[in-house]
Amino acid sequence: MNAPGSTFRNVSVACLLATASAAAFGQAEPDGLVDQHHCMFCHTNDAPFLAPSFQQIADRYRNVPNASAMLEEKLRLGGKAHWGDMAMPLPADRGGPISPQDAHALVQWVLIQ
Ligand code: HEC
Repeated sequence: MNAPGSTFRNVSVACLLATASAAAFGQAEPDGLVDQHHCMFCHTNDAPFLAPSFQQIADRYRNVPNASAMLEEKLRLGGKAHWGDMAMPLPADRGGPISPQDAHALVQWVLIQ
């Protein structure tokens, strides 16, 4: 990780907030994958924080053809930032590698938020 110290502090705060908001989620999470890959360290369902909220992401991509395939690839292999300067960290810096099946389940879940 090459993140500066302040990012680590922010991530800790995000983690606490995410724990509090996770209970309010309307949709069931896919098989603990969200926990396993620490998605909620940076994302929340409805409030932009360190990262765009999953509702913003769903709004942006819901009607975009092939968005799902693009997002799945980005989750697994990384890619350039679409929302700001900060790209999403690679899987190795989150919970570990994500299989194509798991990436598909996660993206489908994000897109129904
Ligand atoms: C360490 C922080 C962090 C973690 C952990 C994280 N994300 Fe992100 N995510 C971001 C940031 C920052 C962005 C905005 C990147 C950009 O501008 O494209 C983002 C963007 C996204 C996008 C939109 C990508 C695009 O191209 O528009 C999706 C979908 C997404 N995240 C899903 C997930 C899922 C699912 C997980 C758990 C597997 C996860 N994120 C874990 C920080 C994180």
